[in-house]
Amino acid sequence: MKILLVGNGGREHALLWKLHRDRPSARFFITRGNGGTDAFATPVSLDPADVRGVAQWADTEGMGLVVVGPEVPLAEGLVDALAQRRVPTFGPTQAAAELEASKAFSKDLMQAARVPTAGYRVFQDIAQAEAYIREQGAPIVVKASGLAAGKGAIVCETEEEAIRAARRMLQAHDFGTAGLQVVIEERMRGEELSVFALTDGRDVLVMPASQDHKRIGEGDTGPNTGGMGAYLPVSIATPELMETIQETILLPTLDEMRRRKRPFRGLLYAGVMLTDAGPRVVEFNCRFGDPETQAVLPLLDSSLLDPVIEIARGGSIRGGRLDWDQGAAVTTVLAAEGYPGDYEKGKPIAIPPGIEGDPRTLVFHAGTARDSGRLVTAGGRVLAVTGVGGTIDEAARHSRQGAEQVQFEGRYFRNDIGWRELERVG
Ligand code: AMP
Ligand code: GLY
Repeated sequence: MKILLVGNGGREHALLWKLHRDRPSARFFITRGNGGTDAFATPVSLDPADVRGVAQWADTEGMGLVVVGPEVPLAEGLVDALAQRRVPTFGPTQAAAELEASKAFSKDLMQAARVPTAGYRVFQDIAQAEAYIREQGAPIVVKASGLAAGKGAIVCETEEEAIRAARRMLQAHDFGTAGLQVVIEERMRGEELSVFALTDGRDVLVMPASQDHKRIGEGDTGPNTGGMGAYLPVSIATPELMETIQETILLPTLDEMRRRKRPFRGLLYAGVMLTDAGPRVVEFNCRFGDPETQAVLPLLDSSLLDPVIEIARGGSIRGGRLDWDQGAAVTTVLAAEGYPGDYEKGKPIAIPPGIEGDPRTLVFHAGTARDSGRLVTAGGRVLAVTGVGGTIDEAARHSRQGAEQVQFEGRYFRNDIGWRELERVG
């Protein structure tokens, strides 16, 4: 079987690693790839956003499965283009990917399905948006409705700040077309969980919840990033809470998507906030999270490939199950100096051979490349080291020790990934 992975970050490296474990005999291909993926996959020089090009290549080369990692090609209709060519593909159609690509759509859907989320209104007109902000008062959250690479949500402490944010989106067009529509919503409080569910559009296989660390600094301080680490298990995500999330969030959302003739097949990611009033949705994503995937998949003992193929072929996952290692995983991201601001590329990376052979530490590449055979940095988030262990403490130690051993000039990583859980379990 030939399998194409679309995307080339840490999430895709982790997906590739797991799918390869599940079926070592398959032949893997990846769009562009990075310095770590060539161990398993042949890189193909295709732009993931070039929907027609990718679909044509996958069809001509006889791919038996395409797995799409990032949201942009999903929102651009890659799955639709592949379906036209009858190439089995894991991921939602363009219409279903609106759940992430349009916050206005997803809020409206949640309201219709009575899925708990923050109260909101949608605006295209700045005067109306300002009037609403004045009426509601602060704190308040202003969001660009479209895809904004994780930068489109601004939590505002004052009305002035919120008005400035709305003007940046609706008047200055700082967020391009993503900000032509804004969602203004109530600020919620509570811890956040990332909940991944494999779905055939009707049934779900829910994965254990994880938490990511979005801020650059230790103690979750400083500017937002694409994610500096992730961990699981999260002890506050009890079986009862996960059941509530399934029954009040995941299933009603999928039902409403089917009702709207946009069945969602693929990976549904619910960003959930645990408020005093119970779990409420912060956002939906239509794909695996990064870097949570690098922490979650190493604990999946059963096959990921089997349900993924079933979903891609239009089948049902009813009655299926996923088996999990009962231990913990902690992923520490190693970033380039200056990230999330400007940073340099092309720094040589040294990974001691010891860690790559150690089953307790897994190295997933993100912004790395091979330059005449030499491994060099090629992005802001360079790679991630996942530590696995019987306890969160052990997993965190393996992750930190692994991160410590990987060397490149200006390397930065947080030493405190998983701190909330470590404080909880003492
Ligand atoms: P989003 O892009 O919608 O996931 O938002 C990014 C981050 O902003 C979330 O992970 C939250 O930390 C924060 N956030 C978004 N919406 C809200 C809200 N309504 N109340 C409080 N924090 C929020
Ligand atoms: N970890 C957040 C995301 O993937 O959107």
